[in-house]
Amino acid sequence: MRVVTPFSRRVDDTMESFIMGLVEVAARPGMISFATGLPDNDLFGTDALVRAVGDVLREDPAGPLQYDTASGFIPLREYIASRCRDVLGVDATYEDVIMTNGSQECFDQLGKMFLDRGDGMVVENPGYLGAIQSFSAYGPRFTGVDVGEDGVDVAQLEEALSHDPKLFYSIPNHQNPSGNSYSDAVRVRVADLVRGSGCLMIEDDAYGELGYGGRVGRTMKSMAPDDVVLTGSFSKTISPGMRVGWMVVPEWMRAEANRNLEASCLQSNTFCQKVVHRFLMDNDYDLFLDGLRRGYMEKKRIFLEAMEENLPGTMRWNDPDGGMFIWLRSPEGTDATALFEGALDEKLVVMPGKPFHVRGGANTVRLNFATPSEEQIHEGMRRLGRVCRRLYPE
Ligand SMILES: Cc1ncc(COP(=O)(O)O)c(C=O)c1O
Repeated sequence: MRVVTPFSRRVDDTMESFIMGLVEVAARPGMISFATGLPDNDLFGTDALVRAVGDVLREDPAGPLQYDTASGFIPLREYIASRCRDVLGVDATYEDVIMTNGSQECFDQLGKMFLDRGDGMVVENPGYLGAIQSFSAYGPRFTGVDVGEDGVDVAQLEEALSHDPKLFYSIPNHQNPSGNSYSDAVRVRVADLVRGSGCLMIEDDAYGELGYGGRVGRTMKSMAPDDVVLTGSFSKTISPGMRVGWMVVPEWMRAEANRNLEASCLQSNTFCQKVVHRFLMDNDYDLFLDGLRRGYMEKKRIFLEAMEENLPGTMRWNDPDGGMFIWLRSPEGTDATALFEGALDEKLVVMPGKPFHVRGGANTVRLNFATPSEEQIHEGMRRLGRVCRRLYPE
């Protein structure tokens, strides 16, 4: 009998994520996808990046191809720290900024640094599946706190914190999957709860720059600097393929964070960090971001109009003020798995909301309006309309 090496407990503990599976399904011929969270191909600054790549290599033919320190390229970290100070109200220096391979890597690093099997961890319900999958490898006991239109339920968070969890993972701005943001009042109360609690809050700001009317609120990191790690990324603004993310850590965990990153991957991608830095130096980033926001706002308008035109009155959805997602709900008590399957028969992929939940959420679906073209939005919505009218007639 052939004996194979048993996997570690971490491998067994790591949850399934539908996301990559759906990327594969979405790539099949004739499929339209409202499922994944990819930026719009037409909004990349490709020409400026071509110039940045050339300039970086011409000016320093070896440096961008060489190893660097674990925490990353200092001028880029300085830029991020200055943006933290000027835009986010966070009093950071470059030494607080650690570059990672996309912000997804931050979650693995933080899980590794803080979670032993069975430790408590608070997550939003619904919450970003990719991060929860990453933390799941370290075997925490997840407690879900509900997220509504004003953000996290503060009473539930207070109760959850009374059980001494190690980590609280949150997305205060334009949450993936629901599109909701924390109100100012919720931000203040959450900061009060977290400050000095012994529970480290992870503030994932992946969509913070994509607020259509500007940034929607104060950062949690600015209100509880020693109790919050802020994670950020250029994935939703410049390019996800370049994998340039970062975390802004409190001084007390800097050395350990650097040591752990080094142990995992030595450092993140020097070349892409230098290209991103060059792009930021040679272009007006705020102007570039304005263009992105306008582009996504227009996509959202087209998408919402198509929803109004095609979906029956039994369906409910929100109108987010940033990010890439709309949160669709079928009638209470129904299971949107039927909607997901019916849509697949029509060659449309949508993302069921249930996997984003630790409880409930059976009647929810996440729709991405950023990736499909205008033509795909119209055709996809006709397909979705046919399924919804059949399953949930008025
Ligand atoms: C909320 C959120 N955080 C983090 C990430 C990870 O992004 P990246 O690793 O590309 O920075 C994503 C990706 O979709 C996301 O939606």
